[in-house]
Amino acid sequence: MPDSIATKVTKAVVPAAGLGTRFLPATKATPKEMLPVVDKPAIQYVVEEAVHAGLDDVLLITGRSKRSIEDHFDRNYELEEALIAKGDNEGLALIRDSAELATVHYVRQGEPKGLGHAVSCAAKHVGREPFAVLLGDDFIHPDDRLLQRMLEVREQRGGSVVALMEVEHDQVSSYGTAAIDPTDEDDVVRITDLVEKPAPDDAPSNWIIIGRYVCDPAVFGVLEHTPPGRGGEIQLTDALKTLAGMDPADGGGVYGVLFRGRRYDTGNKVDYLRTLVQFAVERPDVAGEFVPWLRKFLDNLQ
Ligand code: UTP
Repeated sequence: MPDSIATKVTKAVVPAAGLGTRFLPATKATPKEMLPVVDKPAIQYVVEEAVHAGLDDVLLITGRSKRSIEDHFDRNYELEEALIAKGDNEGLALIRDSAELATVHYVRQGEPKGLGHAVSCAAKHVGREPFAVLLGDDFIHPDDRLLQRMLEVREQRGGSVVALMEVEHDQVSSYGTAAIDPTDEDDVVRITDLVEKPAPDDAPSNWIIIGRYVCDPAVFGVLEHTPPGRGGEIQLTDALKTLAGMDPADGGGVYGVLFRGRRYDTGNKVDYLRTLVQFAVERPDVAGEFVPWLRKFLDNLQ
């Protein structure tokens, strides 16, 4: 068994260096991970999720226009002074919160060569330890404890762990899809193959990979030899597929946690709008005004 199996996961890696082309022109000078969901940027929910699961060493992989992300997780003394002068203690607490949330580190992905390449940029910071990857444009309701469950599975079984959600059969072609074998636990499967964006007839199941991973450090060696795949990008899915076929003694083996909870995607326009509405409806400070307006608006649409 590799040494890393006994090692606890303490680090989270959050890739946020993609081009965000589906959100142009909003993402011309701002990373899509900084788009707000009600009043917080999407990436803050993701960092909060990592901290909630006990991972407060967070490495953000940033690309061009990284300044706004760095500034968001840093103190802003000028703004603090202005809020103090106005007696706005609530605003003050909110802006200090994001700076004190976690120990945030940064590494730059020089060129957006794909999610797999972004993850390989974390090799030096992570070292020989297993680590979590949370995509910065995708988040999970904190009460649904997905990451915690994935960390348990890693501790019990070793290898790497992906999160899977079931979709309608005709939707599989938009996602990475997993071929799975059951285990002795209802919510845990063993991954035998991964197929990126299959035609529905070729899909091995209706279970798709979502943006949460726990990776064995063996992934770094595999990524070094993973050629560019779909879209000319180095795909994390391709590296996981290789890991699934490798010996556990070499850090291989991939498990899936079947997730049936609440996931919010902010990576494309329609899902982003859904996420905004869901969050607004769940927020006590805005729902009182927003929900009656939304009802009336929808009634008038018909
Ligand atoms: P996506 O494929 O959704 O992001 O990557 P994208 O490339 O920014 O979006 P579009 O397709 O152009 O609209 C999933 C996650 O991986 C990160 C993205 O920032 C996003 O959080 N990513 C992707 C990187 O960090 N580097 C890359 O080279 C690619």
